[in-house]
Amino acid sequence: MNASTRIENALRSALALGEGAGRPPRLSAALHHAVFPAGGRVRPQLALAVARACGDSEPALVDACAVAVELCHCASLVHDDLPCFDDADHRRGMATVHRAFGEGLAVLVGDGLIALAFEVIARAPTLHPERLGAIVRTLAQSIGAGRGLVAGQAWEQEDVVSIGRYHRAKTGALFEAAAVMAATACGHDAGPWRRVAAAIGEAYQVADDLADILGGARDLGKPVGQDLTHDRPSAVRSLGIEGAFARIEALRGEAEAALPECAGRGHLIEWLGRVVERLLPAAQRPARAANWA
Ligand code: IPE
Ligand code: IPE
Ligand code: MG
Ligand code: MG
Repeated sequence: MNASTRIENALRSALALGEGAGRPPRLSAALHHAVFPAGGRVRPQLALAVARACGDSEPALVDACAVAVELCHCASLVHDDLPCFDDADHRRGMATVHRAFGEGLAVLVGDGLIALAFEVIARAPTLHPERLGAIVRTLAQSIGAGRGLVAGQAWEQEDVVSIGRYHRAKTGALFEAAAVMAATACGHDAGPWRRVAAAIGEAYQVADDLADILGGARDLGKPVGQDLTHDRPSAVRSLGIEGAFARIEALRGEAEAALPECAGRGHLIEWLGRVVERLLPAAQRPARAANWA
């Protein structure tokens, strides 16, 4: 089974949990709207790529980790789009959850997806239940108020912000979690994978900041110009356009240098490059993407 099929199947099974328990129908529809159709599924793809490099010895637990990270990501998008944050009307080419179902349900969808993420991990069949504690802790920290997503979004409320710290918390942390949880599930040392994923996650957010300035809403499936409209810290505002591209290149070098010797290393380097490239406007891709190969 290829990675995309594996991820979509596992996400459908996760969403089906609770269906039979009499879930309110509009909540059910809103939960599906938040998760399907797919966006890039970059974080679960990263989890599966790391698992493959680590032998993929615990596939059911790895699937649970990949799904849990994607559910938390989808939750973060639903909350990020709310009027009290970015007030966005579109996401993945569709109406945002609060536009389609109302703000109250959107708040509940985000909360429900986060709870579901932990339930999926708790239910995962595994020969190594002793690995679950570290996996749960990693996920909780990646979305938490210390250095996780919650902290990242909260940096938007501060007067003085380090752009790197902001990006590492709001985006890098979940990339790190995807890689660390997958390596841990397979019984491997997660340290090097954390460094690889942190660099890729930060590069991904720099690319998203560039896309917000250079991209088109139709291609991206979400509004552009948001960072300026909402006076958000952004890599482009801090570094300029060329500086932001240079930052991506530096982070690419960091990711590659941290990549441990593993099966399919060349393929993994190529894939990591494509992850960031997908956000860059088409006109910028050929010249820049060549540097990743
Ligand atoms: C959007 O993430 C928010 C950022 C952290 C840049 P993605 O670009 O991965 O969104 P989807 O999942 O593909 O829609
Ligand atoms: C990432 O930041 C949002 C989250 C971590 C949820 P952005 O606000 O830049 O993401 P987009 O551009 O709305 O996808
Ligand atoms: Mg946003
Ligand atoms: Mg953005």
